[in-house]
Amino acid sequence: MINYIHQFFFKVKNKIRREKRNKNLINIPKQENNYIEIKKNLVFDPIIYTPEFIAKEAQKPEYNEELYNFLDKQFDEPYLEFVKKYYEKISQAHKTHSNYIDMIKILFVISKLIRPKNYLEIGVRRGRSMSVVAKNSPNCDMYAFDMWIQNYTGVENPGPEIVENELKKLEHKGKIYFFNGDSKKLIPKFKKNNPNIFFDLICIDGDHSYYGAKIDLSNTFEIVKIGGFLVFDDTNSFEHPYLKNVWKKNIKNRDNFICKEFNELGLGVSIAVRIF
Ligand SMILES: C[S@@+](CC[C@H](N)C(=O)[O-])C[C@H]1O[C@@H](n2cnc3c(N)ncnc32)[C@H](O)[C@@H]1O
Repeated sequence: MINYIHQFFFKVKNKIRREKRNKNLINIPKQENNYIEIKKNLVFDPIIYTPEFIAKEAQKPEYNEELYNFLDKQFDEPYLEFVKKYYEKISQAHKTHSNYIDMIKILFVISKLIRPKNYLEIGVRRGRSMSVVAKNSPNCDMYAFDMWIQNYTGVENPGPEIVENELKKLEHKGKIYFFNGDSKKLIPKFKKNNPNIFFDLICIDGDHSYYGAKIDLSNTFEIVKIGGFLVFDDTNSFEHPYLKNVWKKNIKNRDNFICKEFNELGLGVSIAVRIF
């Protein structure tokens, strides 16, 4: 009897899942460098780069030096001094592999592999993370959401002009669309006005309150392309310890995403790839 109930339960569950998967495979665009288009008889989801693959790639020690040089050349802010120093030191110490993985490194690796055509970022500030994506994918269209809170982390946060200048330095050729204001209001409005836009890569690094981050996450995971990535910053932050749970409760349990968290060193970052 128990066996029968068990089988019946999974039959119904799988039917619902299969229907959702088929519907999404028809309606949701695919990330062109991270999905193999095989139309018939899908045995499994044909994703190329999973979070585990990204994790292994990000362990290559040469990224420490590359990112140290990039941050040093591109950005001059007092609060970055610590990060630069850390990168400089570990580029000497982590010789065969490195377990220091932060938002910058993960965006660098993902954008290098999937070459996004479009990127949505919540929390742009002075364009540091956006520049990493622009460096690897100069034709990528940028969708930049920020309310430009003054003196964020003790540094001037003047708005779009400085971000445009940073991207210009990298000879970025894609478009940049700015959405100035509270992402909790602007993202739903954007989705209503652009129901057909889905993203290769989305990064959430804006409102760091429990509810703000939760709303940003729930507003954006549906507009990731199949094979596209979602990056969520600060999941190991001393200042925002609850962000780890926001990630765990709102994305990890979804059957159409594969997730991975990097919370051993640094401020932590978590990533997910959409499989259907
Ligand atoms: C941590 S900083 C972003 C850092 C940036 N990603 C980088 O790599 O340098 C957070 C940014 O989010 C913005 N922000 C905070 N709350 C927001 C909200 N509710 N809506 C939009 N932007 C917000 C702040 O103005 C700030 O520029």
